Amino acid sequence: MKAIVTGATKGIGLAITRALLDDGAQVYALGRDMTLLENLPDYTGRLHLHTADLTNTDLTALVHTAAKKMGGIDVLVNNAGITLAKNLEETGTEEWDRLMNLNARVPYVLSQAVIPYLKKHPRSHIIQIASVVASKGCAGQSAYVASKHALLGFSKSIAKELQPYGIRVHVISPGGVATDMVSSVRPDIDTQELIHPQEIADIIRFLLAQRGNAVIDEIQVRRETKAPFA
Ligand SMILES: NC(=O)c1ccc[n+]([C@@H]2O[C@H](COP(=O)([O-])OP(=O)(O)OC[C@H]3O[C@@H](n4cnc5c(N)ncnc54)[C@H](OP(=O)(O)O)[C@@H]3O)[C@@H](O)[C@H]2O)c1
Repeated sequence: MKAIVTGATKGIGLAITRALLDDGAQVYALGRDMTLLENLPDYTGRLHLHTADLTNTDLTALVHTAAKKMGGIDVLVNNAGITLAKNLEETGTEEWDRLMNLNARVPYVLSQAVIPYLKKHPRSHIIQIASVVASKGCAGQSAYVASKHALLGFSKSIAKELQPYGIRVHVISPGGVATDMVSSVRPDIDTQELIHPQEIADIIRFLLAQRGNAVIDEIQVRRETKAPFA
């Protein structure tokens, strides 16, 4: 397996990177601050680090470089994301643009750029890390929710477009996960109650292991203390 993972330096992306490496994959890991990844054990040349602000980079060139380094690409994980806890009246247009850029535009450009590589494999995957709020909405986070709703709608559409090529598009929609992102906007939540990043990585492992006729389009994940089917 040859995977690009965005936002690999910490939180959910770091857990995904570790899981894929542990399963024998090559990973082209992206982030701005690579110090955490540099501490990972030696994966005998299977971990490729690339530092970039994805909102300010030639993403198509980046994908070509990743493909050259790994000898192809069969998995893209669009995980990098930022949030904003502000009511609409406090949200600036620049903040809206920043969220839409990283959370929706970057996955759009990266998904487009990897298609020629994914088509070369009989089965390949694009995995989008959205959020449970993408479909439910959330007071005080309208810009974040809008960006994740855009990602969800985009993903549903390309899943249909790419189906004939054996490219599976999966959306993971987590509730609260114990990462820096949640600590910054919801310090009130007891981190013991939150989903562990490793649990999201394990779901991705499960998705990638599916080789039969069953395909999972979206997985919504809630923390145990939240009401079921709410
Ligand atoms: N935590 C949750 O409760 C939760 C719930 C639902 C969905 N999600 C989604 O899960 C994804 C990962 O979130 P997380 O909780 O793991 O957050 P996190 O710990 O804050 O990690 C975010 C990652 O995104 C990267 N990133 C941020 N801005 C970037 C930029 N401009 N260019 C390149 N990389 C950038 C960060 O890299 P740097 O090292 O460069 O900062 C970091 O690796 C996000 O899409 C988030 O919306 C999270």
